[in-house]
Amino acid sequence: MATAGGGSRETFSSKLGFTLAAVGSAVGLGNMWRFSYMAAENGGAAFVMLYILMTALVGLPVMLAEMTIGRGARNSPIKALAHFGGTAWQPLGLLFVAAGVIILSYYAVIAGWTARYAVEGVVFGFLDPSKSADYFTQIASGPQAAMWHVAVMIVASSIVVGGIRGGIERVSLILMPVLALLIVGLAIYASTLSGAGEGYTYYFSTDFKSILKAEVLQDAAGQAFFSLSLGMGAILTYSSYLSRDHHLPNESLMIAVSDFGVAFMAGMVIFPILFAFGLQNQVSGSTLGTLFITLPSAFAHMGGAGRIIGSLFFIALLVGAITSMISLLEVVVSSVIDTLKWPRKRAVVVAAVCITLFGLPAAFDINILGLMDQIGGNVMLVFGGLMLSLFVGWAMPDAIDEVSAGTSGIKWFFLWRGLLRFVVPAVLLFVMYFLIVGTVNMIGNMFGS
Ligand code: TRP
Repeated sequence: MATAGGGSRETFSSKLGFTLAAVGSAVGLGNMWRFSYMAAENGGAAFVMLYILMTALVGLPVMLAEMTIGRGARNSPIKALAHFGGTAWQPLGLLFVAAGVIILSYYAVIAGWTARYAVEGVVFGFLDPSKSADYFTQIASGPQAAMWHVAVMIVASSIVVGGIRGGIERVSLILMPVLALLIVGLAIYASTLSGAGEGYTYYFSTDFKSILKAEVLQDAAGQAFFSLSLGMGAILTYSSYLSRDHHLPNESLMIAVSDFGVAFMAGMVIFPILFAFGLQNQVSGSTLGTLFITLPSAFAHMGGAGRIIGSLFFIALLVGAITSMISLLEVVVSSVIDTLKWPRKRAVVVAAVCITLFGLPAAFDINILGLMDQIGGNVMLVFGGLMLSLFVGWAMPDAIDEVSAGTSGIKWFFLWRGLLRFVVPAVLLFVMYFLIVGTVNMIGNMFGS
């Protein structure tokens, strides 16, 4: 079968390599920083059910759509969309690259804080609890934040320079099992703390009324897209390095289940620890606050054990962040390689320098970081998902043939296409409306009065 990318495109060397790289992209700050917080704030187990429903109904179909486009075209987003849909669809690919730049720019700032906490935890332990909040304010924005932002960008770039097999796949094969072990180990430790029971009760307390609000649906959808790395071509790009014998539905299911597993386990680590040290009242406020203020003060309370547990926690978080960063960077890098025909090394250096500079404002002002998250991490992803579902549902001529390569039966793929044609666009249009209203308000609050 002729492919747009030609025969020379690199491939993942093993099935596991692709799966772990894609899981690495999905599992990141989003799982540990946003998921458990949202669940706790939005009705506990009721939110978790809504999240699972959103993932099944919207997330999985869109993920499969990205995989189908990427593997079919064997090319990065801009050219892959043109391959199946003509040049009219190229701007969407360009938008994906832009989303990659925006998300990675601020994501790297948060990854930078994480790296700092991990390193300091190992070297000095965690600070006097009463100083936690001041400390975070002090290090979150400014020259030091910028320095750590640059440092993690250098780490991510040095992995992506190695290409798929020698860089991304190799690192994912080592780091993802490490992350899984760390998270499970931490959850087991947390379960032994007195007060763990109350933490679980808080995490799972179910309030069905609170999920009947439109904002909660929007949160669940936005979270599903961000956490699964959907809506900006990251999964598409990784899939462009796949051969046609992969069973795409199985791959997508494996990724979604692993991603949910880690998010769920992160809550099993965080809530028992917070309750064990009586810090539950400090949970609200901001998602970042819980991760970078409340938890570190819990680790400080724990004394010697806290230094080990806390360091391991931030190392796990850092591992998740780095494997996500490389997927975001690869979208930009592979697009530059494929469209401008640059060698990989030059593409990585130029892309990384631009993204690092673009992220500096977020490193100096946390409000800018929040705005970039809202626009790049919410609005652009939901819009991208909407366009992807319309593309594969209506515009792409042979979507069913493409998705079913590597599988034996094709019966239920019609159901998939039906979801992409009607259900996914309807849900995402609804969500889009609330997101735009929310974003306009946010910008109004920042610059108005
Ligand atoms: N999924 C990652 C997380 O949960 C973040 C991420 C990586 C991402 N690649 C992405 C988000 C692509 C959106 C699109 O932290």
